[in-house]
Amino acid sequence: MKSSEKKNPDVMPDNFRFVALGDGGDVDFGEVLVGLQQTPKSVSPKFLYDARGSELFNAICTTEAYYPTRTERGIYESQAAAIAAEVGPESTIIEFGPGDMSKIRLLLEQLRPQTYVGVDVSAAQLEDAGPVLAADFPWLEVMAICGDFGPSQMLEQYLPQNARRVAFFPGSTIGNFEPQAAQQFMHGLRDMLGSNGAAIVGVDLQKPVAVLDTAYNDPQGYTRAFNLNLLTRLNRELGADFDERRFRHKAYYNEQLGRVEMHLVSVIEQQVRIGEHTVHFQPGETIHTENSWKYTRDGFEQLAAKAGFGVQRFFTDERGWFGVFVLAVD
Ligand code: AVJ
Repeated sequence: MKSSEKKNPDVMPDNFRFVALGDGGDVDFGEVLVGLQQTPKSVSPKFLYDARGSELFNAICTTEAYYPTRTERGIYESQAAAIAAEVGPESTIIEFGPGDMSKIRLLLEQLRPQTYVGVDVSAAQLEDAGPVLAADFPWLEVMAICGDFGPSQMLEQYLPQNARRVAFFPGSTIGNFEPQAAQQFMHGLRDMLGSNGAAIVGVDLQKPVAVLDTAYNDPQGYTRAFNLNLLTRLNRELGADFDERRFRHKAYYNEQLGRVEMHLVSVIEQQVRIGEHTVHFQPGETIHTENSWKYTRDGFEQLAAKAGFGVQRFFTDERGWFGVFVLAVD
């Protein structure tokens, strides 16, 4: 259940570099408080990923119930050569939210990029996974950048200037954005990538409700623990006094909207202190902690087109549960 079974190399590899941007992923008190004072209450899913949360997310990915990870990995394993043929060698790969950096490993031997840049809010994960990746692929320049992900001026200064830029956005992380925001994100990506840019985007697809409901309510209880860990984090980092026993994990597929919603439900009426502030909960009132949007192939193709990308190739599994889009800047 550790994010990376491999030990850090004793000597930092020469081909590894760590950079912290801005606040380097600290909890922004203001943002969380504002979300909890709104109706309905919400907290951005990016706050789920402290060290413990990242560990629990990696555990979710190993479960039978959570099909996306193994389905997507299966696509990369079987299609690495085809994907590499679309993208070409010597590129700069920029991955947003790389976690333990295990997915890019499935493509590296075939892709043969010059530089790999991983951008994540979790410093711990980057410091664990980055040096190991660099040691295992000595021909690759590895850069780990800690900060809010997404294209930015701050990121730009660290990117090589002449290589083809290829965004790698696996894991259906894009599903965390509202469709409108996803389109904006892709639009920003296109500007960062430039006119000969490309992107490899892993997107979870619409499927029967029961499959989705099980995936976000795994029998081992990792998803439940992952969701509730947010409260533990807020207690520790914001001086809040949430009692985990007074909240329950709830996740379900909202078929109308095409998204899985994850909530923390207050089981009783209660007051919670957050630093100097008090937040009131009605019985059954929820904190909305995540949306995970599910797309159709056409739906995502249209979103990409509006953001200035054309679909070069589409890959899926035999059940059509997960999509990997290789996109090129139009
Ligand atoms: C990492 C955002 C893609 O939405 O499926 C897994 C996170 N939440 N189980 C997802 C998650 C609950 C995951 N993403």
